[in-house]
Amino acid sequence: MTRRFLFVLGSARSDGNTELLARRAAEQLPPDVEQQWIDLTEHPLPDFVDLRHDSDHVRPTEGNAALLLDATLAATDVVIASPLYWYSVSSYTKRYLDYWSGWLRTPGLDFKATMAGRTLWGVAAHADEEPSVADPLIGTLNNSAAYMGMRFGGVLLGNGSKPGDVLGDSEALARAKTFFSREAPLARFPHEER
Ligand SMILES: Cc1cc2nc3c(=O)[nH]c(=O)nc-3n(C[C@H](O)[C@H](O)[C@H](O)COP(=O)(O)O)c2cc1C
Repeated sequence: MTRRFLFVLGSARSDGNTELLARRAAEQLPPDVEQQWIDLTEHPLPDFVDLRHDSDHVRPTEGNAALLLDATLAATDVVIASPLYWYSVSSYTKRYLDYWSGWLRTPGLDFKATMAGRTLWGVAAHADEEPSVADPLIGTLNNSAAYMGMRFGGVLLGNGSKPGDVLGDSEALARAKTFFSREAPLARFPHEER
Protein backbone atom coordinates (compact mmCIF):
# COMPACT_ATOMS: atom_id res chain seq x y z
CA MET A 1 0.00 0.00 0.00
CA THR A 2 1.42 3.39 -0.98
CA ARG A 3 1.94 5.46 2.10
CA ARG A 4 -0.34 8.41 2.50
CA PHE A 5 0.24 10.93 5.28
CA LEU A 6 -2.61 12.98 6.70
CA PHE A 7 -1.45 16.09 8.56
CA VAL A 8 -4.12 17.37 10.93
CA LEU A 9 -3.28 20.93 11.92
CA GLY A 10 -4.68 21.86 15.32
CA SER A 11 -3.28 25.28 16.11
CA ALA A 12 -5.68 28.15 16.79
CA ARG A 13 -3.62 30.37 14.49
CA SER A 14 -2.30 29.95 10.99
CA ASP A 15 1.36 29.64 9.97
CA GLY A 16 2.42 28.85 13.51
CA ASN A 17 5.40 26.96 14.87
CA THR A 18 3.74 23.56 14.85
CA GLU A 19 2.90 23.75 11.16
CA LEU A 20 6.37 25.10 10.33
CA LEU A 21 7.98 22.17 12.12
CA ALA A 22 5.60 19.65 10.57
CA ARG A 23 6.38 21.03 7.11
CA ARG A 24 10.11 20.72 7.74
CA ALA A 25 9.62 17.06 8.66
CA ALA A 26 7.28 16.46 5.70
CA GLU A 27 9.87 17.88 3.26
CA GLN A 28 11.92 14.78 3.91
CA LEU A 29 9.20 12.33 2.88
CA PRO A 30 9.91 10.56 -0.40
CA PRO A 31 8.01 12.02 -3.40
CA ASP A 32 5.90 8.90 -3.84
CA VAL A 33 4.39 9.39 -0.37
CA GLU A 34 1.12 11.26 -0.70
CA GLN A 35 0.43 14.13 1.69
CA GLN A 36 -2.87 15.66 2.68
CA TRP A 37 -2.99 18.68 4.98
CA ILE A 38 -6.15 19.67 6.80
CA ASP A 39 -6.31 22.73 9.04
CA LEU A 40 -8.98 22.16 11.66
CA THR A 41 -9.66 25.90 11.96
CA GLU A 42 -10.56 25.98 8.25
CA HIS A 43 -12.66 22.84 8.61
CA PRO A 44 -14.19 23.16 12.06
CA LEU A 45 -16.07 20.21 13.50
CA PRO A 46 -19.36 20.80 15.30
CA ASP A 47 -19.46 20.01 19.02
CA PHE A 48 -19.02 16.30 19.51
CA VAL A 49 -22.13 14.53 20.80
CA ASP A 50 -21.72 11.20 22.60
CA LEU A 51 -24.43 8.91 21.22
CA ARG A 52 -22.71 5.69 22.20
CA HIS A 53 -25.39 4.44 24.51
CA ASP A 54 -28.44 6.02 22.86
CA SER A 55 -28.37 5.24 19.18
CA ASP A 56 -25.99 4.35 16.41
CA HIS A 57 -23.78 7.01 14.94
CA VAL A 58 -24.48 7.51 11.26
CA ARG A 59 -21.66 7.84 8.78
CA PRO A 60 -21.33 11.52 7.82
CA THR A 61 -21.76 12.06 4.10
CA GLU A 62 -21.08 15.78 3.89
CA GLY A 63 -19.39 18.60 5.70
CA ASN A 64 -16.17 18.67 7.67
CA ALA A 65 -16.86 15.46 9.57
CA ALA A 66 -17.13 13.57 6.27
CA LEU A 67 -13.99 15.26 4.94
CA LEU A 68 -12.02 14.31 8.04
CA LEU A 69 -13.41 10.80 8.23
CA ASP A 70 -12.61 10.05 4.60
CA ALA A 71 -9.13 11.56 4.96
CA THR A 72 -8.49 9.54 8.10
CA LEU A 73 -9.66 6.28 6.54
CA ALA A 74 -7.44 6.93 3.51
CA ALA A 75 -4.32 7.63 5.56
CA THR A 76 -1.67 5.06 6.35
CA ASP A 77 -0.11 7.65 8.66
CA VAL A 78 -1.97 10.25 10.70
CA VAL A 79 0.11 13.17 11.97
CA ILE A 80 -1.42 15.12 14.82
CA ALA A 81 0.19 18.55 14.54
CA SER A 82 -0.98 20.31 17.67
CA PRO A 83 0.68 23.01 19.71
CA LEU A 84 1.04 22.30 23.39
CA TYR A 85 -1.97 23.91 25.04
CA TRP A 86 -2.24 23.49 28.78
CA TYR A 87 0.24 20.61 28.55
CA SER A 88 -1.93 18.61 26.17
CA VAL A 89 -3.37 18.83 22.67
CA SER A 90 -5.37 21.86 21.52
CA SER A 91 -9.15 21.84 21.72
CA TYR A 92 -9.39 21.59 17.91
CA THR A 93 -7.25 18.48 18.01
CA LYS A 94 -9.07 17.00 20.96
CA ARG A 95 -12.38 17.41 19.20
CA TYR A 96 -11.03 15.59 16.14
CA LEU A 97 -9.93 12.74 18.41
CA ASP A 98 -13.33 12.75 20.13
CA TYR A 99 -14.85 12.15 16.71
CA TRP A 100 -12.81 8.97 16.50
CA SER A 101 -15.00 7.67 19.37
CA GLY A 102 -18.06 8.23 17.22
CA TRP A 103 -16.44 6.60 14.21
CA LEU A 104 -15.60 3.58 16.38
CA ARG A 105 -19.33 3.17 16.93
CA THR A 106 -20.47 3.85 13.38
CA PRO A 107 -21.89 0.68 11.81
CA GLY A 108 -20.21 -0.35 8.61
CA LEU A 109 -17.01 1.60 9.18
CA ASP A 110 -14.89 -0.95 11.02
CA PHE A 111 -12.89 2.06 12.11
CA LYS A 112 -10.77 0.25 14.67
CA ALA A 113 -9.92 -2.67 12.40
CA THR A 114 -9.15 -0.27 9.55
CA MET A 115 -6.83 1.92 11.60
CA ALA A 116 -5.10 -0.97 13.39
CA GLY A 117 -1.51 -1.30 12.22
CA ARG A 118 -1.45 2.21 10.75
CA THR A 119 0.77 4.83 12.34
CA LEU A 120 0.04 7.80 14.55
CA TRP A 121 2.64 10.57 14.80
CA GLY A 122 2.73 13.86 16.66
CA VAL A 123 4.31 17.26 16.05
CA ALA A 124 4.04 19.90 18.76
CA ALA A 125 5.46 23.33 19.49
CA HIS A 126 5.73 24.48 23.08
CA ALA A 127 6.83 27.75 24.67
CA ASP A 128 8.37 26.21 27.76
CA GLU A 129 12.14 25.63 27.57
CA GLU A 130 11.69 22.21 29.19
CA PRO A 131 10.39 19.62 26.70
CA SER A 132 9.26 17.18 29.40
CA VAL A 133 6.29 19.46 30.11
CA ALA A 134 4.83 17.94 26.91
CA ASP A 135 4.69 14.46 28.47
CA PRO A 136 0.88 14.59 28.89
CA LEU A 137 0.46 15.32 25.17
CA ILE A 138 2.80 12.47 24.29
CA GLY A 139 0.90 10.18 26.67
CA THR A 140 -2.42 11.16 25.10
CA LEU A 141 -1.21 10.24 21.62
CA ASN A 142 0.64 7.10 22.72
CA ASN A 143 -2.34 5.76 24.65
CA SER A 144 -4.76 6.65 21.87
CA ALA A 145 -2.58 4.73 19.42
CA ALA A 146 -2.40 1.78 21.85
CA TYR A 147 -6.18 1.75 22.23
CA MET A 148 -6.57 1.74 18.45
CA GLY A 149 -3.98 -0.99 17.87
CA MET A 150 -1.92 1.53 15.92
CA ARG A 151 1.78 2.10 15.65
CA PHE A 152 3.18 5.19 17.33
CA GLY A 153 6.09 7.12 15.89
CA GLY A 154 6.44 9.52 18.80
CA VAL A 155 6.19 13.29 18.91
CA LEU A 156 8.51 15.78 17.24
CA LEU A 157 8.79 18.67 19.70
CA GLY A 158 10.01 22.18 18.99
CA ASN A 159 10.43 25.22 21.17
CA GLY A 160 8.86 28.58 20.35
CA SER A 161 6.34 31.12 21.48
CA LYS A 162 5.56 33.55 18.64
CA PRO A 163 5.18 32.33 15.05
CA GLY A 164 8.54 31.54 13.50
CA ASP A 165 10.36 31.04 16.79
CA VAL A 166 10.71 27.32 16.17
CA LEU A 167 13.03 28.05 13.24
CA GLY A 168 15.56 29.07 15.87
CA ASP A 169 15.38 25.67 17.56
CA SER A 170 18.18 24.05 15.61
CA GLU A 171 17.89 20.75 17.48
CA ALA A 172 14.22 20.46 16.56
CA LEU A 173 15.01 21.23 12.91
CA ALA A 174 17.68 18.53 12.97
CA ARG A 175 15.25 16.02 14.47
CA ALA A 176 12.70 16.98 11.79
CA LYS A 177 15.07 15.78 9.06
CA THR A 178 14.82 12.15 10.16
CA PHE A 179 11.61 12.13 12.17
CA PHE A 180 9.41 10.24 9.72
CA SER A 181 12.09 7.68 8.94
CA ARG A 182 12.23 6.43 12.51
CA GLU A 183 10.80 3.11 13.66
CA ALA A 184 7.17 3.27 14.72
CA PRO A 185 6.49 0.20 16.86
CA LEU A 186 3.02 -0.96 17.82
CA ALA A 187 1.91 1.34 20.61
CA ARG A 188 1.60 -0.03 24.11
CA PHE A 189 0.07 1.41 27.21
CA PRO A 190 2.66 2.15 29.91
CA HIS A 191 1.25 -0.63 32.11
CA GLU A 192 1.87 -3.16 29.33
CA GLU A 193 5.56 -2.30 29.20
CA ARG A 194 6.33 -3.18 32.81
C1 LIG B 1 -4.24 28.34 24.93
C2 LIG B 1 -2.75 28.20 24.98
C3 LIG B 1 -2.18 27.33 25.90
C4 LIG B 1 -0.80 27.15 25.93
N1 LIG B 1 -0.29 26.25 26.83
C5 LIG B 1 1.05 26.02 26.84
C6 LIG B 1 1.60 25.05 27.73
O1 LIG B 1 0.90 24.40 28.50
N2 LIG B 1 2.95 24.86 27.74
C7 LIG B 1 3.77 25.54 26.88
O2 LIG B 1 4.98 25.32 26.92
N3 LIG B 1 3.27 26.45 26.00
C8 LIG B 1 1.93 26.71 25.98
N4 LIG B 1 1.40 27.62 25.07
C9 LIG B 1 2.30 28.27 24.11
C10 LIG B 1 2.27 27.57 22.73
O3 LIG B 1 2.45 26.18 22.87
C11 LIG B 1 3.38 28.14 21.85
O4 LIG B 1 3.17 29.53 21.65
C12 LIG B 1 3.47 27.43 20.50
O5 LIG B 1 4.56 27.93 19.79
C13 LIG B 1 2.19 27.64 19.70
O6 LIG B 1 2.26 26.88 18.53
P1 LIG B 1 1.70 27.43 17.11
O7 LIG B 1 2.62 28.57 16.74
O8 LIG B 1 1.80 26.27 16.21
O9 LIG B 1 0.30 27.89 17.35
C14 LIG B 1 0.04 27.86 25.04
C15 LIG B 1 -0.54 28.76 24.13
C16 LIG B 1 -1.91 28.94 24.10
C17 LIG B 1 -2.52 29.90 23.09
